[in-house]
Amino acid sequence: MPHQNDEYAQVARLYDPLTGPFLRGVRQAVVALARARNAHTAVDICCGTGAQLIALDRAGCTCTGVDLSLPMLAVARRKSPPSITYVNADGTQIPLANESFDITILAFALHEKPAPVRKSLLAEAMRLLKPGGTLAVTDYLAPRGLLGLLGHLGVGLFERAAGAEHHAQYREYLAQGGTLGLLELRGLHPEQVSPSHLGAVGLVTLRKP
Ligand SMILES: C[S@@+](CC[C@H](N)C(=O)[O-])C[C@H]1O[C@@H](n2cnc3c(N)ncnc32)[C@H](O)[C@@H]1O
Repeated sequence: MPHQNDEYAQVARLYDPLTGPFLRGVRQAVVALARARNAHTAVDICCGTGAQLIALDRAGCTCTGVDLSLPMLAVARRKSPPSITYVNADGTQIPLANESFDITILAFALHEKPAPVRKSLLAEAMRLLKPGGTLAVTDYLAPRGLLGLLGHLGVGLFERAAGAEHHAQYREYLAQGGTLGLLELRGLHPEQVSPSHLGAVGLVTLRKP
């Protein structure tokens, strides 16, 4: 049966209607970042339905998306202008050249993966970055204070609805300190953190030396 191991096969067509309204702000924040860095080339690893790339393409970036799920890529291709290139590949082993992008993006991908996969996704994002380029990670921050807990109440419900395994990975991601904890663990030093969604989500950036 096609796509039988693809957890996104069933949700591909619903993904944008369900998440789009909540993620508009963070998509625009990445576009603003790309503009500020004068980034001409962008790759989105685990790009899903391509929403981030479509926004970057409109801002003049040459965009590439990588995703394992053919149904998610089918939605992305249908919605995207032909100028965006999509690659059906594992984000832990991307068939693209070293140091070929000004900005690499990992959005809402790390939190749903086991630790070894997170490590490989981050390593690939760094490998594809040009020296001086920017890594942009949009994902969950560990809860801080009452507002952060409130934010994660909402996010937790969403993650629970995505299934038991998904929810367990999300909890484990937070337990290791969210995006900032993960970067620290990998010896990567964030340059900027822009929280949103009551502090539950953050756009975390770092520069490749
Ligand atoms: C939660 S969605 C996020 C999509 C998109 N980045 C966004 O911000 O909306 C996670 C995506 O990661 C993709 N994915 C999961 N594991 C992957 C892997 N090992 N390599 C490439 N893509 C993967 C899924 O197919 C899915 O499209």
